[in-house]
Amino acid sequence: MVINENVERKIIPVAGGKGGVGKSFLSTSIALSLATVGKRVLLIDLDLGGSNIHTWLGMKNSNPGIGMFLNNKTTILSDLIVDTPYANLQFIPGDVMRFDLANITFAQKKKIMKAILNLDADYIIIDLGAGCNHNVIDFFLISNSGFMVITPETTSILNTYMFARNTVYRFLQRLFSNEKDIMKYLKNTIKDNVPGDPQNVESLLSGIAEFNKEAAEKAKNYLSILTPGIIINMAEEPDDINMVIALRGLIEKNLNIELECLGLIFFDSDVKKSLRERIPHLVENNDSVSASQIFRIAQKIALSENFPEMPYDKSEFESSFDITEVEAENDFELLKSKGFSNDDYDVEKLLDLVKKQRDMIAELQGTIKMLSSPGSGSGFSF
Ligand SMILES: Nc1ncnc2c1ncn2[C@@H]1O[C@H](COP(=O)(O)OP(=O)(O)O)[C@@H](O)[C@H]1O
Ligand SMILES: [Mg+2]
Repeated sequence: MVINENVERKIIPVAGGKGGVGKSFLSTSIALSLATVGKRVLLIDLDLGGSNIHTWLGMKNSNPGIGMFLNNKTTILSDLIVDTPYANLQFIPGDVMRFDLANITFAQKKKIMKAILNLDADYIIIDLGAGCNHNVIDFFLISNSGFMVITPETTSILNTYMFARNTVYRFLQRLFSNEKDIMKYLKNTIKDNVPGDPQNVESLLSGIAEFNKEAAEKAKNYLSILTPGIIINMAEEPDDINMVIALRGLIEKNLNIELECLGLIFFDSDVKKSLRERIPHLVENNDSVSASQIFRIAQKIALSENFPEMPYDKSEFESSFDITEVEAENDFELLKSKGFSNDDYDVEKLLDLVKKQRDMIAELQGTIKMLSSPGSGSGFSF
């Protein structure tokens, strides 16, 4: 595992447990923003099976990707690096429809990881797929401070909690992979965990301490270096951060790791439009509030002296979550003063609602027709 604090070249896997929360959009946008401030950035599309970074970059999907690297003994990963239309930003394509990250072999995973560690850039940003399977988590654990993208919805919050929980357990399993007693204990204890009863890492460590004090101490020390960064995406209002603050409390209390908050980005219907037009949102709508929120995150990353620790005035704010809260409130004022510049936002929502209602009515009518048809015996009529 790369400890980002200690190295010049930062490796940032981007995950989150759930699909559709904006991992690919944010991986691309943060990579692009870092590149515009002069950092050498390499973006890797590791959402094998669902690769779409080329689309976010507005590029054709015509270059060989990770699949070629896995299938071909003579290909080295750096051979696959392609230039993008943007200065300082290069990328390694995935392979659409050819692989599923959940199904690659252990040897293939090792091969990719080893090759990534040999790449050269100031920032290596890795877009991961959805899910909590071992392979996604192992790639997430390639460094100690990957990003988790969260949207303020219950499903995303739950998925992120499960992702963080599985990451911590996997981390412990890997740490003790050569110690039979501990592995057995972890296997039994974690398996016994019933859904809805969050397993507490503290009690897990106390269990280990009962038969191996040193190992428990070692686990505690190692866990203290794991600091995932949180990005809140598609927020509708500043208060949306409260769900994430509650999640932070739960993760820090139950899983013995600390989180860093990078920032919050508002929902902006222009994101989809720019994707359709294949021009990055940051380029097409660079004066939007959402673009400035992403630029700000990239700036914090670039200025962080002890990455992933976010740079802010510690005499004024208690944590990076507090500063994000204040930023979100200011951004919201700005959005309101712009009169929600993307004024088709409400119209789009309304159309969506009307369509949903129409579908529901059609379904209902179909059911009623079936029930009231001769022979159905229901005698139901509309
Ligand atoms: N801040 C945002 N505002 C509006 N739409 C967004 C935002 N972020 C992402 N989206 C939309 O959400 C969808 C999913 O984004 P994507 O990056 O592909 O998610 P993931 O990689 O997590 O599956 C895309 O259609 C994108 O346009
Ligand atoms: Mg994606």
